[in-house]
Amino acid sequence: NFSNTTSLNAIKTVTVVGGGLMGSGIAQVAAQAGLNVNLIDLKPELLENAQKSIQNNLQRVARKLHKDSPAQIEAFVKDASQRIKVSTNLEDGVQADLVVEAIVEKLDVKQELFNKLDQLCPEHTILASNTSSISINEIGAGIKRKSKFGGLHFFNPVPVMRLLEVIKSEQISEETYQAMMEWGKSVGKTCITCKDTPGFVVNRLLGPYSAEAMRMYERGDATKEDIDIGMKLGAGYPMGPLELSDYTGLDTNKFVLNVLYEKTGNPVFKPIPLLDKLVAEGKLGIKTGEGIYKYK
Ligand code: CAA
Ligand code: NAD
Repeated sequence: NFSNTTSLNAIKTVTVVGGGLMGSGIAQVAAQAGLNVNLIDLKPELLENAQKSIQNNLQRVARKLHKDSPAQIEAFVKDASQRIKVSTNLEDGVQADLVVEAIVEKLDVKQELFNKLDQLCPEHTILASNTSSISINEIGAGIKRKSKFGGLHFFNPVPVMRLLEVIKSEQISEETYQAMMEWGKSVGKTCITCKDTPGFVVNRLLGPYSAEAMRMYERGDATKEDIDIGMKLGAGYPMGPLELSDYTGLDTNKFVLNVLYEKTGNPVFKPIPLLDKLVAEGKLGIKTGEGIYKYK
């Protein structure tokens, strides 16, 4: 009986918690798809930044869709931005059919948030995490609505990357899983499914690739530029592995590799001194103006 469960038609309001790089993108694609969105972050200035970045990215999308019509571009941007309500108060986001968490990659902080959401949200609300590497089951360990919980893993930049990984938690119900798959499709993504395994599909495979590229650069086998050109022109990747690590953030990269090493024991994921050094120096990639490359 689908009427008692959250069907696609029931997902009209989505709350995104965390308005950084990923959360602002997730809010944007949901608003573009005609949903009402609450975007929650800790401080007003972070929400202002999120709104600015959403406006810019909506303009890019609108210019592509409505090349020759400034009026349609303006209407598209206005309609989508009006659907996004921002707040620093989590309680403003609890009346939602789906909550997607995109906050800092720390297990205890995520657990605390999900425990709160579990208490505050109506019974039918589906809860999902956008974690890159942490176990979905561990994140949801303290919640009661285990059948309405899973992973929705988007890729950066969210408005452009066409994939969504839907992660099945141990106790997810078939209805919740189907609702997540349908929702992903409705916001324009192709969905793939993965069990709750370290790195899921994409990061499990990108991890060894980015780690080996970093080690190759560390050994001085080739310059950073030549490693990147090699994979762009020789293997058809849109970005080279070192550029991509700077784009994702070296801190995120390091975190994902550390979790993969801890969970799998595979030596390919072992800590890389050069990566540890750059992160310790605050050289995190594009977001800080320097990582493997300089951006200033
Ligand atoms: N919002 C909206 N549109 C955007 C955008 C954004 N943030 N960024 C780029 N675009 C659009 C541009 O408008 C442009 O559109 P048109 O081609 O229609 O003009 C298109 O995307 C290409 O952009 P650019 O010309 O500026 O630059 P590019 O051709 O170098 O593409 C890129 C940029 C899409 C990021 C491309 O380099 C790419 O695909 N890189 C690889 C990204 C990737 O692998 N991401 C996954 C990382 S792993 C991850 O996210 C998981 C994790 O858990 C860490
Ligand atoms: P980010 O640092 O850009 O954004 C995180 C935001 O969450 C910040 O604005 C922060 O203020 C906010 N926040 C932190 N704790 C909060 C709380 N308790 N309540 C409300 N807001 C809170 O990080 P990001 O790159 O957007 O990553 C977010 C999540 O998405 C992480 O779990 C990350 O692993 C995952 N992810 C990242 C990428 C990537 O390429 N960067 C790709 C896929 C998934």
